Amino acid sequence: MAAQTTVLITGGNSGFGYAVAEELASDDTKHILLGCRSAEKGKRAVAELQKQAQAKVDYVQLDVTDEKSIAAAVSEVGEIYDRLDILVNNAATLDQVQESLGLQLASCFQTNSTGVALAVDAFLPLLKKSSNVARIINISSGAGSLRRRVNQGPNAKVVGMQGVAYAASKAALNMITLAQAKAYGGDALKVFVYTPGFVISNLSTLNTAENGAKSPKDGALGLAKVINGERDGEHGGFLSESGQYEW
Ligand SMILES: NC(=O)c1ccc[n+]([C@@H]2O[C@H](COP(=O)([O-])OP(=O)(O)OC[C@H]3O[C@@H](n4cnc5c(N)ncnc54)[C@H](OP(=O)(O)O)[C@@H]3O)[C@@H](O)[C@H]2O)c1
Repeated sequence: MAAQTTVLITGGNSGFGYAVAEELASDDTKHILLGCRSAEKGKRAVAELQKQAQAKVDYVQLDVTDEKSIAAAVSEVGEIYDRLDILVNNAATLDQVQESLGLQLASCFQTNSTGVALAVDAFLPLLKKSSNVARIINISSGAGSLRRRVNQGPNAKVVGMQGVAYAASKAALNMITLAQAKAYGGDALKVFVYTPGFVISNLSTLNTAENGAKSPKDGALGLAKVINGERDGEHGGFLSESGQYEW
């Protein structure tokens, strides 16, 4: 059997990241690593995924706001697998409205922007050891689109400064991804931004079917195509399931 493709999904214990893991679990060419900050949640998610007969899934402790945790995860993945083929930077947090604007900004940037930059930096040597095309996929959001904000009409759902920390951190993530694509991209390594669209998850109390959110499984199918190399020609792009998203 050909060597399995190792896929690390940060924040893979719930919502979109979990749905991606579920989608890949039925593919026996994939070895999924769920990078989770909570051992309890991570191990529970792994146990659930392992109910699928052919699933190869393991838990890796990973808090993207903690450089020691990132370094330990790199060591663990390196010792066991000697390489990483795909890194899906999915972990994120949203503005906690009970906190001050400063704390909301600090928290969103630390997890959603800085955390991704640090994780990529730390895992890069293992990605370079991939014997196939390695891929970095940073999960962003339409909320981070500058064009969308420019075009925002008076009836837009997001009003005033509401959600600005999350939106700004995702705009920063888009820039970080472009820098990574230019700095590291080439025949052996592809870099993307991907937005799943509005899906049911634990991100906020609004992410429910009643509010029109779709199943995260729908977006996961789209991401699996990026993971499998079907969209390598769009390296450096801001991808959605149906095409390219506006920056
Ligand atoms: N849902 C949407 O409509 C939507 C739309 C556009 C983009 N997105 C993006 O999709 C991605 C997944 O979000 P989701 O909607 O599936 O939300 P979610 O269910 O809340 O999942 C977020 C995951 O990130 C983890 N996480 C948060 N901080 C972390 C940290 N410091 N280190 C490691 N893991 C951390 C969470 O872990 P805990 O369980 O421990 O909190 C959780 O597993 C995010 O990048 C989000 O911005 C979502």
